[in-house]
Amino acid sequence: YNESLKIHNEILFPNFCNELLKIKDLKLRPDDTFVIGYPKSGTTWTEEIVWLIQNDLDFEKCSRQFHFERVPFLEKEPLNKIDLLPAPRVFKSHLTLDYLPDKIEQFCKIIYVMRNPKDMLVSYFNFMKSIKGIDYNGTLENIIEDFSQDKIVYGNWCDHVNQFYSNSNILFITYEDLLEKSFEIVKKIVEFLGKSYTDKEIERLIEVTSFKNMKSTSTQLSRFHSDETFKRIDFSLFFRKGEIGNWVSHFNDQMSSKVDDLIKHKINPNIEIRYLPS
Ligand code: PPS
Repeated sequence: YNESLKIHNEILFPNFCNELLKIKDLKLRPDDTFVIGYPKSGTTWTEEIVWLIQNDLDFEKCSRQFHFERVPFLEKEPLNKIDLLPAPRVFKSHLTLDYLPDKIEQFCKIIYVMRNPKDMLVSYFNFMKSIKGIDYNGTLENIIEDFSQDKIVYGNWCDHVNQFYSNSNILFITYEDLLEKSFEIVKKIVEFLGKSYTDKEIERLIEVTSFKNMKSTSTQLSRFHSDETFKRIDFSLFFRKGEIGNWVSHFNDQMSSKVDDLIKHKINPNIEIRYLPS
């Protein structure tokens, strides 16, 4: 499992991040949009919503072309390939601003998605177990211990979230709100991106990007995708539960307090974290 990771500035990254330092020099375009989140926080879901908003709700293309062919994964794709992509580009990334071009948030739109860390950790654990060729045999307790030692890819969770929250140019949303107040949050994203769609169109967008729909489309389309990294992912497992509060069935009290203790003094106190459905 360690072979699939690398360390940079004392932060763990997936091995496929091979041009990390060159990303600072990425040639930005004013119509680029970046969807960023800590791993397993609903990044892919947010990307799909943003891709549709930026592509005139092209539902047909969305159902025909595999998500990761339309949404380049910034730190994974070769930068010379990224330079040639047609506009408007919608990127996926888990990187913090330190790795992105300076003042990126003043040139381009960034949407950041946060998810409660307990659901994120359960999702991360199940994802690790499902990646082909890694044979992860740890437990959820091991993952929580890794979390406490910043040994989860992309570094400390609180640092990640705090950095994006405190930047007023960035739209900060949560997985929990997106699930429970879909209409309100999608409308907010539409406005942030300077677009205008009818209520009916927004309803349709929410339907197309539902967990069930994205799971079935991505599972089907991934079969025809040849990328080595994505071939190791079983998309019927990647779209696992899509719920708030699934952690309750996996955490005991000790695990729960360990996560609470780790974040309570470090997280920006203005950030509201919701662990259960309301
Ligand atoms: S990754 O690999 O780090 O980019 O993962 P990421 O996309 O950030 O997060 C994966 C979790 O998001 C859930 N998901 C969704 N939930 C609700 N609705 C939709 N449409 C949706 N799409 C993805 C996915 O199921 C993962 O969470 P868990 O809890 O494991 O189900």
